[in-house]
Amino acid sequence: MSLPAALRNTLSVPAIGAPMFLVSFPPLVTALCRAGIVGAFPHVNARPSEQLDAWLTGIEADLAAHRRAHPDATVAPHCVNLIVHRTNPRFEPDLEIVVSHEVPLVITCLGHPGKVIAAVHRYGGLVFCDVINAEHARKAAEAGADGLICVGGGAGGHASSQSQFSLVREIREFWDGCLVLGGSISDGWQIRAAEVLGADLAYIGTRFLATAESNAQEAYKRMVVDCSVKDLVYSDRFSGVHANFLLPSIARHGIDVAALPPKRPDMTGLVDTEAKVWRDIWSAGHGIATIHDVPAVAELAARLAAEYRAACAVPPSAAVAV
Ligand SMILES: Cc1cc2nc3c(=O)[nH]c(=O)nc-3n(C[C@H](O)[C@H](O)[C@H](O)COP(=O)(O)O)c2cc1C
Repeated sequence: MSLPAALRNTLSVPAIGAPMFLVSFPPLVTALCRAGIVGAFPHVNARPSEQLDAWLTGIEADLAAHRRAHPDATVAPHCVNLIVHRTNPRFEPDLEIVVSHEVPLVITCLGHPGKVIAAVHRYGGLVFCDVINAEHARKAAEAGADGLICVGGGAGGHASSQSQFSLVREIREFWDGCLVLGGSISDGWQIRAAEVLGADLAYIGTRFLATAESNAQEAYKRMVVDCSVKDLVYSDRFSGVHANFLLPSIARHGIDVAALPPKRPDMTGLVDTEAKVWRDIWSAGHGIATIHDVPAVAELAARLAAEYRAACAVPPSAAVAV
């Protein structure tokens, strides 16, 4: 069992609501935690830093009130996603705020997590590192991460092209700690499949984007429901790193993806448009294939839990001779 003790018996479904830029705001975070799913948000969604402090105070108060009102409820921990990249001027001040609030779980991305791990471990918190390949996973493991979040092919946001089947098993060859699997997970059957592959928790973004509490624009949520995988493009021309984007959100700005020049090493060749990536050009993962509604988080969480339980009851194949 590689799930950290601090997470045992804290969830209704073994899942983290993944942090999403411009999408994961406090209403989504608290709805997830109240439903027994870890609620995470990127620190840069709160602008400026003072707002991060205020958001955390609000989230803590909301969850404490919910615990008081429902002493038997399973309330999951909340989580902040810190962008560790050296070009991020908010990294140092926001890490201080995270430490002052003793945020129970911190997810790092885009840089060496050493400084975050040292600071968060001092107050007893956990640090999980978002990785998209085994090389990054090894570095995060060596740095002392409490968990590795492996984001495989078909994920929303910046995505790897490596299949989850291969990624999990490759990382399990050298990592026996907590492993979280992300990319294209939209239902309880897939959550269970992630566990069978060797993961402890599922990491779910796109499915929670299309919920009542998400901060995505209504037209964005509708596009996630209306589109299928053929409406996605995996391209590095928008943010400089490969990510999955919804084609209709690109086409409405008059951009023809097929006509874009290749990206050059100096990062020129990116799309030149007034439209802003993430705000106007929208990302989603292959999980949209089975997303057909925009439910409240509590309703979706109950559905995920029922599907997960059904999947846990599946017996071994009848094809295997006993
Ligand atoms: C709209 C959108 C924004 C995202 N923004 C972030 C982000 O700010 N930080 C981050 O670490 N991951 C970000 N991600 C990636 C998610 O945290 C997660 O890895 C991914 O959504 C999992 O795949 P799925 O969307 O197929 O469930 C984003 C994903 C989406 C769809």
